Amino acid sequence: RAKKHRYTEAEPREIQRTAVIGAGVMGAGIAYWLSTRGIDVVLRDISEKAVAAGMARISKNYDTSRRKHILSATEAARGLDRIHATARPVPLHRCQLVIEAASEELEIKKTIFADLSQRTAHDTLLATNTSALPIRELAGSIENPWRLLGLHFFNPVHRMQLVEVVRTDQTSDEAIATAIAFVRRIGKMPVLVKDSPGFLVNRILLPYLVEAAEIFEKGGNPKVIDDAMLDFGMPMGPLRLLDEVGLDVAAHVAHTLAAAFPDRMRVPAIAEKLVEAGHLGRKSGKGFYRYGKNGHEPSP
Ligand code: 3HC
Repeated sequence: RAKKHRYTEAEPREIQRTAVIGAGVMGAGIAYWLSTRGIDVVLRDISEKAVAAGMARISKNYDTSRRKHILSATEAARGLDRIHATARPVPLHRCQLVIEAASEELEIKKTIFADLSQRTAHDTLLATNTSALPIRELAGSIENPWRLLGLHFFNPVHRMQLVEVVRTDQTSDEAIATAIAFVRRIGKMPVLVKDSPGFLVNRILLPYLVEAAEIFEKGGNPKVIDDAMLDFGMPMGPLRLLDEVGLDVAAHVAHTLAAAFPDRMRVPAIAEKLVEAGHLGRKSGKGFYRYGKNGHEPSP
């Protein structure tokens, strides 16, 4: 397992200054993790409210890491200092890497990348954390598309080891080498994948989650389903995991896979129903489970 793949012979570039666009669950999670590993981060979102919510999430993570003695008080204070959060369209020319983690909508991402293309140096690497959108479709929005790639982190970022490094037909070897070295530098495990529906992990994971949702739909008890898979050895039951990922995000990935593999992938009706009702899982307080101060219980 520890064998390090040499994915390319190209020489990686050093990355010290980064920006993360979008301060939601993933953006804040990525900014937190990078800052704990000594990387400077500009964290940007479009409203002060979104920025404040992201920073609250990050502060909570730093509190937990201190409480659990994962970081000392000094390390935590230094880490937090490395994040510069802003709702203003600041110049990012000094950043060597920008990671976009905004909403999963192609048009929104195209606008962001067109703007980033103007706001960054000509060789700043531009990465998207998209779960399922085709990355090559962003290439037309930027100058020098050789610097465009995917950096797909998993939720929760501070616990999940793997990061998918996604290459398009145009991504340069140097960009790939730099991204892979960067993922290792921040203590995670890179896997190089093609720009294809669901990449590698979601293509395998989603069918499992969809089956669990459909068993639930047919009247299965959520706790029985989840406990069985916990006993089987999964770290979290599939319905809890769907709530954790976010039902909007999961439904979006399922749609992408269903479009690509109509013979074997579906979008479970229950996921669509919950999303329509605004029940997005843990982030909205309710999904397959209801979340409160005392943990979670199956939704009524
Ligand atoms: N810094 C800050 N907080 C930390 C921390 C750190 N370095 N390490 C742990 N913590 C916190 C956790 O956030 C958690 O806080 P919470 O109670 O407020 O949630 C608490 O400490 C307990 O964490 P543990 O690590 O002790 O918890 P567990 O051992 O129970 O493990 C888990 C939790 C790692 C989430 C495990 O259940 C798991 O692996 N689940 C599966 C996750 C998974 O599969 N994710 C992928 C989803 S798919 C995806 O993201 C792709 C997308 O494209 C759809």
